[in-house]
Amino acid sequence: MRKINNSISFVLDGKVVKIDFISSNSLNPTTTVLNYLRSLSNHKGVKEGCAEGDCGACTVVLGEGRGGKITYKAVDSCLIFLPMVQGKQLITVENIGCIDDLHPVQQAMVDTDGSQCGYCTPGFIMALFELYKNHNNPSREVIDDALTGNLCRCTGYRSIVKAASISCAKNEKDSITRTEKNTLKLLKGIKKESIHIKIKTQEYFLPTTLEEAISLRAKHGKALLVGGATDLALRVTKNNELLSKIIDLGNIDALKSIRRTKSQLIIGSGASLEAIKMETQNLFPALYKMLAVFGSKQIRHLATLGGNLGSASPIGDMPPILIAYNASVILAGPKGKRNVAINDFVTGYRSTVLLENEIIKEVVIPISNRGALISSYKISKRKDLDISTVSAGYRLELNSNQTIYTAKLVYGGMAAMPKRARKTEAFLKGKPWNREVIEQAMGVMESDFVPISDARSGAAARMIMAKNLLLKFWTENRN
Ligand SMILES: Cc1cc2nc3c(=O)[nH]c(=O)nc-3n(C[C@H](O)[C@H](O)[C@H](O)COP(=O)(O)OP(=O)(O)OC[C@H]3O[C@@H](n4cnc5c(N)ncnc54)[C@H](O)[C@@H]3O)c2cc1C
Ligand code: FES
Ligand code: FES
Repeated sequence: MRKINNSISFVLDGKVVKIDFISSNSLNPTTTVLNYLRSLSNHKGVKEGCAEGDCGACTVVLGEGRGGKITYKAVDSCLIFLPMVQGKQLITVENIGCIDDLHPVQQAMVDTDGSQCGYCTPGFIMALFELYKNHNNPSREVIDDALTGNLCRCTGYRSIVKAASISCAKNEKDSITRTEKNTLKLLKGIKKESIHIKIKTQEYFLPTTLEEAISLRAKHGKALLVGGATDLALRVTKNNELLSKIIDLGNIDALKSIRRTKSQLIIGSGASLEAIKMETQNLFPALYKMLAVFGSKQIRHLATLGGNLGSASPIGDMPPILIAYNASVILAGPKGKRNVAINDFVTGYRSTVLLENEIIKEVVIPISNRGALISSYKISKRKDLDISTVSAGYRLELNSNQTIYTAKLVYGGMAAMPKRARKTEAFLKGKPWNREVIEQAMGVMESDFVPISDARSGAAARMIMAKNLLLKFWTENRN
């Protein structure tokens, strides 16, 4: 990365906006898009509710030009740092319609009485706008998924869901389609270049190639890597931390690819969880099932697989099921690449084998799981938009006489890191796949874990959940 450009460019209100961080008194590279928009007199529609991705009041839509088209994704603006909109179109509730010319989703919300106090409404409108742009006649399931990231305290969801199905029944051209040609031209005009912002207290790198990222990582080992920032942004919005050095991997196309070979699915560490969800429904149904209850669409559009593994959280939803699929992670550094089984990647509470000069490049999942029963489970206080209390990824292979050839039982939320129930696995090996054996195995599991008590659950309850998930797995897969 040669020059320091100190600025970013993106499209807003039908023109290219350039923010120069040297001349700006109030903005820095970790200012969230929400705070930036709220500082503008004509974008007060966007609201702050929770500042942690849970309420959706801050929802905006990002447009990205690809192959002569613009794709639209709803995201939580409270979780995005300003450089993350470099080269994109930022769309707010003010951009899609006005009082004399409402957007079809706005008109439908009026017609169905979809708003009372109105605080949540701009966020709902933007989630509906994304739905409108991407779906024709969406099913109830698709509508619910689009609205999972938005909370309403007063209206109730029935009228909002109705507004969704009325407005998306036939998607006609809207105000945004009419200006799309011009927007594409503006987006094309923004140079696709690496960004380096250096102000007195902070340095922010936004490389566009993997090689650049690796060389930056080698030079700045203490810099924080950022994928989608859904984990890291909370350090700014909740802890008021000043993140002094950041390497943002979000503009490296090579890290976003998802490709299939004969024997593997290779997922770039920067691929969004929503993109992975779309690719895995038939190929890896247990992974898909986990992604279907992961955060919300706004979160999944931002969150990356690299970030989920990199955060090494004991309740991260991806490691247990990836371990069950025998997946591995490719780490890249100045000396080349190395392949580590995901089971060996996390070493303890929020710690991994990743070296200070490495990044997670991709995740490799073997396709052939012939004969293996693989399932995932997540127990949380709510079905949607909640983190796991206990989660599990199971893999079972049976001999032809219905005895257990091998069982892999991986749990989240039961220890300081995702952990296999090794003693239970050893107990099950060679035994018949029947209820009596499973009930005995549930007793053995007591010796595998010493779970903690915290705000989400007591230790005893966690133990019961872990045992009962095994019983559920048997119930769902008995002969
Ligand atoms: C509202 C909300 C709901 C959530 N729901 C869930 C949920 O249901 N299940 C769940 O598991 N999590 C959930 N999370 C947590 C978080 O969204 C996920 O862990 C997500 O996958 C993190 O990805 P990211 O790209 O945003 O990570 P970031 O915040 O960008 O990074 C997280 C960590 O990973 C490191 N990192 C990122 N990319 C790389 C890389 N390529 N190489 C090496 N290190 C890297 C970063 O340095 C950082 O330490 C939720 C978060 C929020 C705010
Ligand atoms: S303010 Fe609640 S999700 Fe952003
Ligand atoms: S209308 Fe009041 S919170 Fe939704």
